[in-house]
Amino acid sequence: MNSAILLVDIASADRDSWKSFLQNQNYDVFTAEDGESALRDCVQLQPDLVLLHDGLPDVGCFDLCRRMKGNPLNQQIPIVLIKPSPDPEDAARGRDAGAAAFWGSCNSLAEALNRVQSLLRLKKYIDEQAKSVVLSLARSIEAKSPLLNGHSDRIVDYAVQLGRSLDLAETDLQDLRIACLLHDVGKVAVPDEILLKPGALTVEEMQIVRQHPAIGESICAPLKSLRRILPAIRHHHERMDGSGYPDGLSGDEIPLMARILQIADIYDALVTDRPYRDALPSEDALETLRTEAAYGWLDTSLVWKFSRICREGEYLPLRGRTMLAAYYA
Ligand SMILES: [Fe+2]
Repeated sequence: MNSAILLVDIASADRDSWKSFLQNQNYDVFTAEDGESALRDCVQLQPDLVLLHDGLPDVGCFDLCRRMKGNPLNQQIPIVLIKPSPDPEDAARGRDAGAAAFWGSCNSLAEALNRVQSLLRLKKYIDEQAKSVVLSLARSIEAKSPLLNGHSDRIVDYAVQLGRSLDLAETDLQDLRIACLLHDVGKVAVPDEILLKPGALTVEEMQIVRQHPAIGESICAPLKSLRRILPAIRHHHERMDGSGYPDGLSGDEIPLMARILQIADIYDALVTDRPYRDALPSEDALETLRTEAAYGWLDTSLVWKFSRICREGEYLPLRGRTMLAAYYA
């Protein structure tokens, strides 16, 4: 995927020459001509870098930078302020506004490219580090409950097998793996007394738990490397008949990755011990999935495919095969 750059500047030959130059370096370049469109485009496009020129008709560059950085979704996006005739205090003003760098004029386009490449490398590094932190966060939530130990790893196995049977591309399978590992990261906002409560939840407690898909989405949203899995995180508790949450999506409105993930998630919950019941044998768990599909909750065709995969066994990786062998024993 090419890096995306949002070029904020009034329309001019100079801007067009910057745009062509960056496009020739294989960057995806978008332009905005005023403050309002820059604010809107930055949130929608989530570029890897913003080059913000001073001299817009409706707002100064320091003000606009501050407003862009005020949106949590833009936190990880480096913004470079460009003011060809800077005042001595402008660099400090830029830092105060949250800019990653303040440029006066560049001696050449090659020098500008060098600076752009450095910032994009740094952005990528920070993004990967932040992704590791989010993955650790998800692991820490799972570690709170011995019953969930290994849950995410197992649903990766199940979901990837189901995804392979649908001929998903390797990049989609990789996204699916990450989505499985992170799908419940929003539970970090659920108090432990609710998360670990052995009995049934009250209506109020259930409402708190039901916020976790949207919270998980907002935790992952600032990271470019997680952008493609946001729909799976947000929608993994939707139901095919529209009775799920958080948005009440139905049928094909529910992203395929979310429909796969929820089957793997429910199956693993059924075949592992819970405080109120022992683990179900695989065939009983599959029967429960088929019943939920008949209710209109799960994707029927995916449930049947998953049942076939579990029965045939040979498609499962070593870890999955070992587990299934134990269930059938
Ligand atoms: Fe969940």
